[in-house]
Amino acid sequence: MDVEDAILKRRSVRSYKNKGISREKLEKIMDCARMAPSANNRQDWKFVVVDDDVVKDRIYEVANRQGFVREAPVVIAGVTTDPKDIMSCGVPAGVVDLSIAMDHLALKAADEGLGTCWIGAFNQEEAKEAIEIPEKYEVVALMTVGHPSRPLEAEEKNRKDLEEIISYNTYTE
Ligand SMILES: Cc1cc2nc3c(=O)[nH]c(=O)nc-3n(C[C@H](O)[C@H](O)[C@H](O)COP(=O)(O)O)c2cc1C
Repeated sequence: MDVEDAILKRRSVRSYKNKGISREKLEKIMDCARMAPSANNRQDWKFVVVDDDVVKDRIYEVANRQGFVREAPVVIAGVTTDPKDIMSCGVPAGVVDLSIAMDHLALKAADEGLGTCWIGAFNQEEAKEAIEIPEKYEVVALMTVGHPSRPLEAEEKNRKDLEEIISYNTYTE
């Protein structure tokens, strides 16, 4: 699958088959997250791969009890280990770095026929507690991974038109 195919096939999957993912396959996917760029190549990140049902249930509780979190065989927490690192442009490096890495993850998962869903609706403090993340770190996002109940296919996406979101040379509303 080329990159564009993976981009078009990836969608938020909120219904999963009752089928696990081997750690070998998971590591293949995580290896693509590892290859993501990061500010100054600092790689101040950790990924907690949750595939134990008891721990996953704790994540489900702190992620607004969204049903698909429990259904997915795996939930990955993307953690920045330097949440206070603000780039000279004023933007937190960890949030940018983790977002890129987790998107690499999502696209590689799509390439493997697996579904993912970003989860931003969770309680930060409770999530850290649930998977024993030190207080000084921050979970940037959670992501479910699993076999989609309906195969991934390129489908029409509800997106703004290009003209609405780009301008050339100077900003225009
Ligand atoms: C940072 C972020 C947080 C999100 N949080 C949630 C969430 O908590 N629950 C959920 O069901 N979907 C969540 N989503 C998925 C979005 O709703 C979804 O990406 C968007 O509607 C576009 O649909 P698509 O991913 O199928 O293209 C999140 C997406 C992003 C990027």
